[in-house]
Amino acid sequence: MNYEFPQNFWWGSAISGPQTEGRIAGDGKGDSIWDHWYREQPDLFFDQVGPSETSEVYTRYKEDIALMKATGHNSMRTSIQWSRLIPDGIGPVNQQAVDFYNNYIDELIANDIEPFMNLFHFDMPFALQEKGGWESKEVVEAYVTYAKTCFELFGDRVKKWFTHNEPIVPVEGGYLYQFHYPAVVDMKRAVQVAYHESLASAKAIKVYHEMNLDGEIGIILNLTPSYPRDANDPEDVKAAQLADAFFNRSFLDPAIKGTFPEDLVDLLKHLDYLPDYTDEELAIIKENTIDLLGINYYQPRRIQKKESTERLSDKPMPDDYFDNYIWPDRKMNPYRGWEIYEKGIYDCLINVRDNYGNIACYISENGMGVEDEQRFKNADGVIEDDYRIDFIKGHLQYVHQALQEGVNVKGYHMWTCMDNWSWMNAYKNRYGFVSVDLEDNKKRTIKKSGHWFKEVTTNNGF
Ligand code: BG6
Repeated sequence: MNYEFPQNFWWGSAISGPQTEGRIAGDGKGDSIWDHWYREQPDLFFDQVGPSETSEVYTRYKEDIALMKATGHNSMRTSIQWSRLIPDGIGPVNQQAVDFYNNYIDELIANDIEPFMNLFHFDMPFALQEKGGWESKEVVEAYVTYAKTCFELFGDRVKKWFTHNEPIVPVEGGYLYQFHYPAVVDMKRAVQVAYHESLASAKAIKVYHEMNLDGEIGIILNLTPSYPRDANDPEDVKAAQLADAFFNRSFLDPAIKGTFPEDLVDLLKHLDYLPDYTDEELAIIKENTIDLLGINYYQPRRIQKKESTERLSDKPMPDDYFDNYIWPDRKMNPYRGWEIYEKGIYDCLINVRDNYGNIACYISENGMGVEDEQRFKNADGVIEDDYRIDFIKGHLQYVHQALQEGVNVKGYHMWTCMDNWSWMNAYKNRYGFVSVDLEDNKKRTIKKSGHWFKEVTTNNGF
């Protein structure tokens, strides 16, 4: 074996509540922004498939946990849907949701799969979006109450909690680039949303630590290492640093250091875009940092100084400070149009070691999306996804190297276990170890990569 991993390394995959649970009549779930948006504008969604049509984990969780076991998971991450547990975001708890999450968690534990639980995966309850969503301090308080409710209900068995998955994405999608509701373009509002997500995270961490439960709490960030076109051109370097400030350090710094990056704060001050904040809130962020970092890594950002005069909005946008650059040597995923750069995962980990106190971390998502993946099905109905095996191996080699170099990395979770519904892209890009056949009652079949992963996790390496 060339790549052996430490004992107790966390092997598994990640999913989320809104992308897998589905919705059945009478389950008591309230609307999230996705339920609402789909009802209003179904044409925005690939093949017009909406959030009720997800892979039905709500009713099929036992079958899916058996598949996690069969593909070698010792841990997995999902999220609680806020709008399932507390249908209006604040107020009464839905007992059917409590029963469902209890059963789900217990079944995972009974199968020796440790549940990692995230509290927010892009799914603001619609009733709270009507009150301003993350722009509102009242919603921050509602989130803290929701988080506390989750810790009280499930904190005896769930030992790894996360306050958000990819908090930059609702900022980008909802307030800059229009791929999440409310799909507006307004950087000032985007900054307020980002700030409140960090504040909500710190407040939830405070509550968790005060409850003295036996476990850890962290955040999951999608990191996109930003490489300048020319490392010797100070303007390219500066542009890459600003992209890093906007998209990485904006959440890494408050989560781990309890402060916001100075270059970003200076820029926002100059634009008169600082959020509405108080010194008391800043002190809460300073004092309540994470125990554990989840890193989602898919692809890097390649940056050059601003050359184009094209503007996305007549008001300032992050894109006014840099241009994306197409690296001539880049390797592309031919099935989803994203760059594949395995070393990026190593650079993310080394950055955490060198600049963030080598805090405990794990790879919480990494994966390869493939359009129209049914074309790779063999005569036995198994998808032969050798490209995914190569993708995972290529990244794990770099995780292994980071481990050798002292990074405190504790696991690797692939995105995802079962193919799942992905927001506006619905089922367009498939990522799973297990295929879901939309033409045949969402029948699940383990792909070649799922069988391979079982061997890797059994041998603790490859
Ligand atoms: C991840 C998100 O960044 O990307 C997931 O956490 C999402 O929620 C995944 O499903 C894949 O995205 P896409 O657009 O390729 O389907």
